[in-house]
Amino acid sequence: MKTRLGVNIDHIATLRQARGESYPSVVDAATTVLREGADQITIHLREDRRHIQDTDVEAVYLVTKKFGKPLNFEMGCSDEIIEIAIATGPDWVCLVPEKREEQTTEGGLDLIDSKNFEKVKTTCDYLKSKVEGLKISLFLEANPEVLEKASQLNIDAVEIHTGDYAKAFVHDEDYSHFLETFSTAKKLLVSKGIGCHAGHGLTQSSLMPLIENNLFEEYNIGHWIICQAVFDGLGNVVNKMASSMEKFPYTK
Ligand code: PXP
Repeated sequence: MKTRLGVNIDHIATLRQARGESYPSVVDAATTVLREGADQITIHLREDRRHIQDTDVEAVYLVTKKFGKPLNFEMGCSDEIIEIAIATGPDWVCLVPEKREEQTTEGGLDLIDSKNFEKVKTTCDYLKSKVEGLKISLFLEANPEVLEKASQLNIDAVEIHTGDYAKAFVHDEDYSHFLETFSTAKKLLVSKGIGCHAGHGLTQSSLMPLIENNLFEEYNIGHWIICQAVFDGLGNVVNKMASSMEKFPYTK
């Protein structure tokens, strides 16, 4: 089975929103990402609309359909966003906890709290009843107790939160215990027939131990890819602009 790469393009929209212009275009970003070999596009429509906007959702969905690839729609369990998901009909929904004040998603859903568990359960059942063929993943910590709770729900996959692992990796700390925890999580999920995805904070380097150890079938990666794309493109862009100026020397 192919190991899948989902590219999260939220931060293309972050750059656009910083200026309120129409560029950089999320449609162009989704097109480039899928043309170059990604297996799916991931976007997170946050309640505060800090990056992805309502109109982006349909536009990006249409790009994924042009390429015959899935759209993975990340969302909190809020009534307004649930209705947008139903109107869009993505291939996947990934349910995440969402707090207004956070910089980015800070961790997995709390399924131990019975009120939260019921909210997630109701959301999964409602979404599945409204969107034919919809697959759902839950963003969770690799904690066996939480994963056992998740297995009682109508879901297709769990996306394991890799943020703490990725931080340990970047800061040169020992990360071997994370690999053991992920391996235990994988065994549990596979035994229950639930897909095993991963995401958050990953870079090209921190991805390597995970793929080498065959830990997850799908990775959703955003921030680092967009950051690295700056350096893979910055030289070209400056070179082109400087060359165009050389052709038109300034005269007094
Ligand atoms: N997966 C989930 C559930 C997320 O919330 C995010 C961040 O939006 C990602 C993956 C991608 O994380 P990053 O941008 O740090 O690669």
